[in-house]
Amino acid sequence: MATLNGKNVLVIGGSSGIGFATAAGALAAGAKVTIASRSEEKLRSAQELLQAPVEARRIDVADGASVSAFFDASPVYDHIVISGAAFKFGTVRDQDIEEAYAAMNVKFWGAYRVVKKAKVAPDGSFVFVSGFLSRRPKPGMALVGAINAALETLAQGLALEMAPIRFNVVSPGIVDTPTRAAMPAEARKTMLENIARTLPVKRVGLAEDISDQILLFLRNTFATGTVVYLDGGGLLV
Ligand SMILES: NC(=O)c1ccc[n+]([C@@H]2O[C@H](COP(=O)([O-])OP(=O)(O)OC[C@H]3O[C@@H](n4cnc5c(N)ncnc54)[C@H](OP(=O)(O)O)[C@@H]3O)[C@@H](O)[C@H]2O)c1
Repeated sequence: MATLNGKNVLVIGGSSGIGFATAAGALAAGAKVTIASRSEEKLRSAQELLQAPVEARRIDVADGASVSAFFDASPVYDHIVISGAAFKFGTVRDQDIEEAYAAMNVKFWGAYRVVKKAKVAPDGSFVFVSGFLSRRPKPGMALVGAINAALETLAQGLALEMAPIRFNVVSPGIVDTPTRAAMPAEARKTMLENIARTLPVKRVGLAEDISDQILLFLRNTFATGTVVYLDGGGLLV
């Protein structure tokens, strides 16, 4: 297993949730970590919480100019984790088509743009964060499932196209992160408890459940084109 000690690790979406836990884990493993996302404020508070020297830079992966400017001013990274996305759910019939395009634009095309522009070491790797809806469709989430499936397949194609750079994907089930912060706290708690009851493991995920697998992918030089579903058994029920 390769070491992360001294490696340059970029975590897009590192200011919150799964990305934040990944940044914390990479720092603990001795990596030089850069976190990136849109909000200066979120980046600053993540920097404070991480309690270690970490670079924080703004990027909007939905915007080609922002991605180009970011990587024009970037070093060669050893590893890039793409956990940065925010979008709305809705049924195909009800969701505004522009909102649907925006979801695809940030999560699928966002990763595509990053891969196109980033400078990565030949022995380096990318990890994408997709989501188990790729294989477990649910009403109102057909588009997000399709985006996740596209991202998983993109990573496998890139594992061949850009070899020896490695590409892997972690596909989470329901994870309790700030992504649902806009929901009233009590409703969120009840929703997560109800989901937990349906799962074989009887709990929803923590960001660290997912970041542990991401960090393993960075270190395991035999892993490429691999998609790991981490969902508490959600694909089985
Ligand atoms: N939580 C779950 O249950 C779950 C389940 C399956 C899959 N996932 C996937 O896991 C990934 C991470 O989710 P999370 O739960 O950790 O969410 P989160 O806590 O809301 O974190 C999302 C991160 O992405 C950044 N971000 C959002 N839009 C961005 C953009 N356009 N450009 C750059 N950064 C952007 C956010 O920061 P800024 O706002 O500052 O940009 C934040 O740092 C997402 O792709 C999500 O779809 C999550």
